[in-house]
Amino acid sequence: MSGGRLVVVSNRLPGAEPGRPLPAGGLASALSRALDETGGLWFGWSGETGDPAAEPAVTRTGAVEYAAVDLSEEEIRAHYEGFCNGVLWPLFHGFDGRVRLAAGGYESYRRVNARFAALLSPLLRSGDRVWIHDYHLLPLGEELRRRGWRGRTGFFLHIPVPAASAWERLPGAAELVAALAAYDLVGVQTERDVAATRAVLAAHGTGVAARRVASHPIGIDPEHWRTLSAGEPANPLEPAAAGRSVLFGVDRLDYSKGIPLRLQAFERLLERAPRWRSEALLVQWSAPSRQAIPEYRAERARVEALVARIASRFAPGPPPAVGGGAGPVWHEMATREASSIAAAYREAAVSLVTSHADGMNLVAKEFVAVQRPGDPGVLVLSRGCGAAEELREALLVPPGDVGALAGAMAEALEMPLSERRDRWHALSARVGGSTVHDWSRRFLEALDAAPSAGDSPGAGA
Ligand code: F6P
Repeated sequence: MSGGRLVVVSNRLPGAEPGRPLPAGGLASALSRALDETGGLWFGWSGETGDPAAEPAVTRTGAVEYAAVDLSEEEIRAHYEGFCNGVLWPLFHGFDGRVRLAAGGYESYRRVNARFAALLSPLLRSGDRVWIHDYHLLPLGEELRRRGWRGRTGFFLHIPVPAASAWERLPGAAELVAALAAYDLVGVQTERDVAATRAVLAAHGTGVAARRVASHPIGIDPEHWRTLSAGEPANPLEPAAAGRSVLFGVDRLDYSKGIPLRLQAFERLLERAPRWRSEALLVQWSAPSRQAIPEYRAERARVEALVARIASRFAPGPPPAVGGGAGPVWHEMATREASSIAAAYREAAVSLVTSHADGMNLVAKEFVAVQRPGDPGVLVLSRGCGAAEELREALLVPPGDVGALAGAMAEALEMPLSERRDRWHALSARVGGSTVHDWSRRFLEALDAAPSAGDSPGAGA
């Protein structure tokens, strides 16, 4: 391992997520542990609006410094909401129809990345390793190289990599693909993403960089989730469940997650198998997200309309009170504490992870981690999730197929205990065998061992 510090760069600093408690067992804790080992710096957006000309606000906790940068209102609109979440997000998740190309979005994205590089460069020291995260910051490595940075620099994309044809819809496609060549290592979630990344690099004649692309599937900290669940002995799904089997979904309210799809599939299940009208409850906890973007508000309206329709068709009485009543669906728009989510995973009969496309989807792994070994629940998992490449003993369903999902719900609800145990044991071994700490350690080892891009003539110096 290199003797230098680790420098992490992400769109948001840990704790800068609106309305969301810091996920102590997630990425933040994995990277904090890695940062603690060598000492280091975490650089990113504060989550606040502020003066873009200001220097980063630097705070220190132990051996780790946090450098927080504000975005201007214009940058939030054009860069974060516009290009990152109005263009890259839908395109990379296969929602070409939701791409909102707006004049100036790409230019703002480039300017924010250039500004981050200008603010970060003076903070870097010889021997540091820089690890940049996610689609908001794809060109940041190249911008650092332009400013003369030659040190080890890796990039990890948390979301899926689309086909080369989708990249062609991007303003600046050629520049963005070329920017990947500035990294010593490009990590993606799955082998499917490796193939897609290599294909787009080859299509743009940047084939030499393809050797630096590798799959590093992100994991969770299973022990942390078990501790959370053990600390919450009450069942948060009661009294709503009232003895019924719970099918449970918990997501950011994002159109990539397939929340309407799971409601439609549940509605079909209730149509076809009337016993579940009184014996099953679908619980959906949706955390509000990116509500300034019209597609997210439309998705929320779609979900709420479906919930109302199912209630009007199948509820025995007047619409249920929030979280209670005898209706077949309990939908809650809220950001729950992780401990409450952990307890709900433990008590649910079935977990519904139904994304149309998803880089990994950690809900699937968290659910597995906290099951009771003697009486585990069943994971229904869309093949559109990166997690499906590892979690093969889940009930795998094709993305977007209402009929297949309704069938999987019935199969999950009726699955014999012995089969539930067999599947869960295999899944649990996979989740425990590749944790988020393994992920960060392996990525950094691979970054140290990778051929250097920093000295190559194409590095953009
Ligand atoms: O999973 C992708 C991601 O952008 C993460 O980087 C982020 O933590 C999460 O979605 C929430 O999104 P946002 O930062 O846009 O609220």
